[in-house]
Amino acid sequence: MTRSAGDTSALVMDDKSFAAIATMAKDEAGLVLPEGKMTMVQSRLRKRLLATGQPDYESYCRFVTSPAGENERRYMISALTTNVSHFFRESHHFDILRDKVVPVLLQKARNGQRVRIWSAGCSSGQEPYSISMCLHSAAPELVSKDVLILGTDIDPAILEKAEAAVYSEQQVSGIPGEMRNSYMELDRGSGQYRVNSAIRKIVRFRELNLLRDWPMKGQFDVIFCRNVVIYFDAQTQASLWPRFRQRIIDNGWIFLGHSERISDSAMRLFEPNGMTAYRAAANKAP
Ligand SMILES: C[S@@+](CC[C@H](N)C(=O)[O-])C[C@H]1O[C@@H](n2cnc3c(N)ncnc32)[C@H](O)[C@@H]1O
Repeated sequence: MTRSAGDTSALVMDDKSFAAIATMAKDEAGLVLPEGKMTMVQSRLRKRLLATGQPDYESYCRFVTSPAGENERRYMISALTTNVSHFFRESHHFDILRDKVVPVLLQKARNGQRVRIWSAGCSSGQEPYSISMCLHSAAPELVSKDVLILGTDIDPAILEKAEAAVYSEQQVSGIPGEMRNSYMELDRGSGQYRVNSAIRKIVRFRELNLLRDWPMKGQFDVIFCRNVVIYFDAQTQASLWPRFRQRIIDNGWIFLGHSERISDSAMRLFEPNGMTAYRAAANKAP
C-alpha cells in the first residue's frame, strides 16, 4: 500500500529517535519520558511531522536536533507537555488560601505592602483564575490593593489559551455556583464562558522554563506549583526546592500536587502544614 504525501498515520517511531527526543525533553524541560511512553510521544509528535514537512520520525529528529530546528524544539516541548488542569483542582488548597492565608494578605495589603502569588506551571489558566476568584470572594477589599497573581508556563501555546480565558461549559462546571455566576460571562453565540475582567485584572502570564533563570523580582507570599514536578526526575525536583524557598517570604506558603512531595534533602527549609501544603521555614536560608 502506498502512503500519500503528508499521511503520517502509519509511521512508527524507531528506538534511536525516541531516545534522542527523550534526551532533549529532559535537557530542555526536565521532562522524563520512559520507554513506556513511546506510543504517546509518537502520537503527540505526529502533528509536528506534518507541520515541519518531515517524512518520518528519523528525519524529524535530525531536523529538531540541528541548528535550523532550534525554533521547532519549543513546539516539540509544547507538544510533549501534559496540560490537564481544572478550576479549583484539589480544593483543599483553596480552603487554606481563604481561611488561613487571605486574612494575613489582607492585613499586609492594608499596611501598604504588596501581595504576590505565583502559579508556576499554570497551563491554560484555571489555577491562577481560581486563585483570583478565591481572593475576590473572600476579601473584595484585598483585590483593590497592590495584588498580582503571576501565571507562568514553559508552553507558549497553552499560555495563549490562558490569556484568552475562554472555557467550555464542562470546564467551568468545577467553579462553585456563586462564583461561576459572578465571575464567568456566557457568550450565547458560542456557548463558551469567559473569565470576567475583574478576575483577569490581577492575573499576568509569562513564559518561563522552571529549569532556567527566574527573572522575576522580589518574593512571593504564596506559590502554587501543582502537578508540574511530577513529570521531572528526583534530581531535578531536588534542585527546585531551594530555589522556590528563596522566592517565598518567611512563613509564606507553597502548594504542591496530590502526588508530589518536597524532597527529604530540602525539608529543613519547609514545614508541612496540611495536605501537600508547606510553609517556608523562617530564617532558614537554602
Ligand atoms: C498538568 S499541568 C498542571 C497545571 C496546574 N498547575 C494544575 O495543577 O492544574 C503541568 C504544566 O506544567 C508545565 N511544565 C512542564 N514542564 C515545565 C517546565 N520545565 N517549566 C515550566 N512549566 C513546565 C506544562 O507545560 C503544563 O502546562
